[in-house]
Amino acid sequence: MSGFDFSKRDSFGSRMGVIMAAAGSAVGLGNIWRFPYILGENGGGAFLIIYLVIVFAIGIPVMMSELLIGRRSQRNPVGAFRALAPGKPWYLVGMMGIVAAFMILAFYTAVAGWTLEYIYQTLIGGFVGKSSGELTVMFDSFRSESLRPALWFSVFMLATSAIVWGGVRKGIEKSTKIMMPLLFVILILMCIKALTLPGAGKGVEFLFRPDFSKITGNTVLMALGQAFFSLSIGMGTLITYGSYIPKDNKLGSTAVQVSMIDLLVAVLAGVAIFPAVFAFGISPSSGESLTFIVLPGIFQQMTGGMIFAFSFFFLLAIAALTSTISVLEVIVAYFSEQLNMKRRTAIILATGSMFILGISASLSWGMMSNVKLFRLNIFDLFNFTTANILLPLGGLLIVAFLGWFLPGRDSKDELSNAGTLRLRYYSLYRFAVRYLAPLAIALVFLNGLGLLKF
Ligand code: PFF
Repeated sequence: MSGFDFSKRDSFGSRMGVIMAAAGSAVGLGNIWRFPYILGENGGGAFLIIYLVIVFAIGIPVMMSELLIGRRSQRNPVGAFRALAPGKPWYLVGMMGIVAAFMILAFYTAVAGWTLEYIYQTLIGGFVGKSSGELTVMFDSFRSESLRPALWFSVFMLATSAIVWGGVRKGIEKSTKIMMPLLFVILILMCIKALTLPGAGKGVEFLFRPDFSKITGNTVLMALGQAFFSLSIGMGTLITYGSYIPKDNKLGSTAVQVSMIDLLVAVLAGVAIFPAVFAFGISPSSGESLTFIVLPGIFQQMTGGMIFAFSFFFLLAIAALTSTISVLEVIVAYFSEQLNMKRRTAIILATGSMFILGISASLSWGMMSNVKLFRLNIFDLFNFTTANILLPLGGLLIVAFLGWFLPGRDSKDELSNAGTLRLRYYSLYRFAVRYLAPLAIALVFLNGLGLLKF
């Protein structure tokens, strides 16, 4: 049993703080780095429409469920299931979330570290005069070095820990309230710059004009996986944040607002990137290198390109930071509440273990390149296992718990703030958590494992 004093739990102070912290978790590399390249590889506008439908029909209900479980139980993901389902094995869903948190933090912080290298490169003029071939070599040789990727990982990890060290209200809430608006401003400026490039129209058209002939079963599943990753759902991050949300907060509207901000940032990232991609004649399906190889190439051909490059990688770093703190908080809340550690001991222990995992992940193309499991290096293994297995499985179990285990009156009571709010959407929500979301998630999961092929 935990000896943690739950009456002393930290919490978010304001409604704005809740939105900024949760949107900070959702908005990240997933929106700005992953979304554009996945959309680029999956048919542009048609993908966007499917993505939209999925966010509304599945993403929002799952997000509401996580916030609900967190706030009702006032616990970390493991403690939450232990409190709401005593003596039942549901807490294993929380454990799975903790494992996922370690793995995501390792590879995600490694990518976040790359953004620091790229900020540094823009400052020393490292891209200037390089052809796209040379930029590819530059990216590949950076990744396969033994020192720099690990160094940048460490810097980013320490920045993450420093914010979490400050606590929920004074660290996470305060910092995200500054970083999120800043991110928005930079992104809008970048969109304006991109839209005024000659030939920008083609990129806009690619993003917004659907070509339905490009849709396959796989497109739908890619969109579903992307939605999970982007909204930070399926591993208890929003259970943890939900547990810090005041009792008078409307969880339904919080989930809707956070999802809309996340969606908007993804679309704006598309607006900032595709006009440039088309204006400079690059293929939109260049894959995950789009951000780190293609964009520097584009930036240096633009007037004021280095300022643009600096802003872009700085934006990426901030977006990543407001996400990494949410993942670290999951581990810290678990250590301190379930294992009864002092919060600061928990942070030191979590950070220490992350150094081992994360440095290994960031050296996946360097010193650790021959450490492989199922033919995947450490980075790819963490990336694959979390996005394709742990998040969908976690999400499926979370909605199953909500839809089929927790009594309906409990979820209604929590969503309606003990009956003080009228919930016009409740039957829709109930349908989503009982049938729609579990079925849809089961499909992604089976596809991810290759058990079902479309
Ligand atoms: N949602 C984040 C992004 O889009 O970059 C990534 C992420 C954060 C995933 C937190 C999962 C998580 F728990």
